[in-house]
Amino acid sequence: MAAPAASASAAFRRVYDTLKDELLRDPAFDFNDDAIRWLDGMLDYNVLGGNLNRGLAVIESYKLLKAGSEPSEEEVFLAYILGWGIEWLQAYFLILDDIMENSHTRRGKPCWYRLPKVGLIAINDGLVLRSQISQIFRRYFFGKIYYVDLLDLFNEVEFKTTSGELLDQIITNEGRKDLNKYTVHIYRRIVEYKTAYYSFYLPVACALLLSGQSLDDYVQVKKILVEMGVYFQIQDDYLDCFGDPDVIDKIGTDIENFKCSWLFVQALQRADDKQKDVLFENYGKPDPACVAKVKALYKELALERVFSEYERESYEKLISDIEAQPSETVQAVLKSFLHRIYKRK
Ligand code: IPE
Repeated sequence: MAAPAASASAAFRRVYDTLKDELLRDPAFDFNDDAIRWLDGMLDYNVLGGNLNRGLAVIESYKLLKAGSEPSEEEVFLAYILGWGIEWLQAYFLILDDIMENSHTRRGKPCWYRLPKVGLIAINDGLVLRSQISQIFRRYFFGKIYYVDLLDLFNEVEFKTTSGELLDQIITNEGRKDLNKYTVHIYRRIVEYKTAYYSFYLPVACALLLSGQSLDDYVQVKKILVEMGVYFQIQDDYLDCFGDPDVIDKIGTDIENFKCSWLFVQALQRADDKQKDVLFENYGKPDPACVAKVKALYKELALERVFSEYERESYEKLISDIEAQPSETVQAVLKSFLHRIYKRK
């Protein structure tokens, strides 16, 4: 997602220091100095370094939902805490995802598990991050009227994301045996679950809860946000292959890893028998020459143009769905989200 405004980022960033400090001094566990140093380094390495868009989207949405009335310092602070809750969740998912995908770099650095001192301790670090969300939320939200709804929301979204990840891993195993299993329908299901709920619905849902709304009244908004999330993941798949690694801060591995990627699904729909042979012979192989052949085929099938067309159509559909929303405030929240991600590089 595109870089957020500097001033909001700075205020948001300061809240991270407070949260980290409290976690390192959590009286619920008697951490020794080595453990405190580990946690300190682990948090900085994994929670920071991303674009923070999910977290910042909470405060941005919250301010828009307040429609003109300035939120109090306390309310802004709580919105920041919820934002960090999502960034903690993101760090937890990414650590484990990088292990499963055998990835090398993340946010321009080696993946956490790739550091010699870390290895598979990274699995527990992921779980620690998840449990810290509960610690943070208990400290700040216990007793609030929406506390149960908040915990329920995070549980629901975690369930959806991990289920999407499960589907992704299973389909990739199937794809190793038969690449024809990768269909548009399967693709959509995977990305809806593994990306859209936590990246798009969750920030807005947090802002709604904080402003005293019931999530049951926003079913249509949820649908639109999930659609935006699908669009975001398709962009991500596109950039994995065609993006500049220096700009996207990671080296794409979808082709080598047999991923059920949007580009592959589109290629399969358009390829003739000869092109399918090239695709099936070279997909999922670590050899750079094989990866190059797949990329050349994607270009031959004009997938860059197919993507641009998809991007334009999807944008137009989202705008018209957003403008059909009865509340202008809600429209503003959704549009600000869309403009953050549209045509990102
Ligand atoms: C990466 O998302 C994971 C996906 C859902 C595609 P971002 O590109 O927003 O990740 P960070 O947090 O900035 O690293």
